[in-house]
Amino acid sequence: MNTSTLIAPPALVRRAEQHDTQAIQALDSAHYIHPFTDHGDLATRGARVITRADNIYVWDSEGKQILDAMSGLWCVNAGYGRKELADAAYQQMMTLPYYNSFFQTTNVPAVQLATKLAQLAPVVGGRRFEHVFFSSSGSESNDTNVRMVRRYWDLLGQPQRKVIISRHNAYHGSTMAGASLGGMGGMHAQGDLPIPDITHIGQPYCYEDAQPGETPEAFGLRAARWLEDKILAIGAGRVAAFIAEPVQGAGGVIIPPETYWPEIQRIVDKYGILLISDEVICAFGRLGHWFAYEKFGIRPDLVTFAKGVTSGYIPLGGVMVGDRVAQVLIEKGGEFNHGYTYSGHPVACAVALANLELMEREKLVERVRDDTGPYLAQRFAELAQHPLVGAAETCGFVGGLVLVKDKATRTLFNPDLAVGMVCRGHCFRNGLIMRAVGDRMIVAPPLVMTRAQVDEMMALILRCLDATRDELHAAGHLG
Ligand SMILES: Cc1ncc(COP(=O)(O)O)c(C=O)c1O
Repeated sequence: MNTSTLIAPPALVRRAEQHDTQAIQALDSAHYIHPFTDHGDLATRGARVITRADNIYVWDSEGKQILDAMSGLWCVNAGYGRKELADAAYQQMMTLPYYNSFFQTTNVPAVQLATKLAQLAPVVGGRRFEHVFFSSSGSESNDTNVRMVRRYWDLLGQPQRKVIISRHNAYHGSTMAGASLGGMGGMHAQGDLPIPDITHIGQPYCYEDAQPGETPEAFGLRAARWLEDKILAIGAGRVAAFIAEPVQGAGGVIIPPETYWPEIQRIVDKYGILLISDEVICAFGRLGHWFAYEKFGIRPDLVTFAKGVTSGYIPLGGVMVGDRVAQVLIEKGGEFNHGYTYSGHPVACAVALANLELMEREKLVERVRDDTGPYLAQRFAELAQHPLVGAAETCGFVGGLVLVKDKATRTLFNPDLAVGMVCRGHCFRNGLIMRAVGDRMIVAPPLVMTRAQVDEMMALILRCLDATRDELHAAGHLG
């Protein structure tokens, strides 16, 4: 038997630019279980095959160019095609492709990256982040948070402090702990989640949840006080931590009112509970700061990161461990029975270092904060004039708009119409990747996007909104 023909991959690429799309789709359907995908549906449509990328664009197997306004999954902050990152991976693979950090061992890129991150993490209110724990993803990092928070309280002789409070419609990952911390009903419904001692409060979504006449500021305070109500209902002595994304990403780019975070900080301080800022999306320039807690002036004890730390070129995540927790773990903790094979992976850390260096050299964080971020905000505000758009807002380089049936009365569409998906379909057909979360359309473009490219993206968004309105109108769903 000729085994080489059995194991050789089928020839799906004819020439550099020519792919056999149907053959790829057939094999994809036959063998590949995708994340967050209805496979019955996928089999009838065939997956979109993305074959290459450069700068802010990706190309599919049919040669179609698409502007990626989502940076992949909110991660390709430095844009596609960055040779520096490939070179860093190659060099590190040739020097030391792998070694673990267990059993009193370390490696140079992991040490350098931990040091670099400790330098980048701003000190707010005297709180420092001198320590980092590495994982390979945001989900793993949030599992680490659960273990670390519980270990912390055990070491302080308060093992009854177990409960972690999160928010409905939050996203904290897809592992058992990550999905439990998250507040997605669809995820909780599969796999008997949440796991015990994780509970949720409402999200600060002003557009839908503010009462008539209530200002965003008043709503922000009211939403933050749901945390205090929950703490009191559970008993403060049983609450270990509160976890939240500074701006909810996967939930639909929910930007809290200005009053929200200061009030949350007041409450966690009052009851002495730990604050976890999940910055898997929000860190590394996404909101115009290296870390988003600085933007909101909050003082978290633990900060989850992943995605943008390597611009998504290679998996890496972790937890910035503030001094309050680190001191207890290090001074009282003995061995922390937790870790991953790939914690501090030398190649991932080398790519992260190259990525952070590139971002510093090109001043991407400052650019988003001072130039392209405010410009995106200005252009997004114009979208609010569109008859289909109830509200449009940005924070740094994330933006969200809500599609509504009637702007004046804030009447939403019947969810069965899946208007967001209709709009998303028009985006793809017009060469734009925009995500739909219900009827919220969201963007998180690569941070290298120029003002001219912001204009290009906005023109595409407007064209897709018009096409969506025309389709809804023709079907009789608009007045
Ligand atoms: C805020 C937040 N936390 C955690 C995660 C999970 O990260 P990962 O998919 O790398 O496990 C995500 C992913 O989008 C996220 O947005």
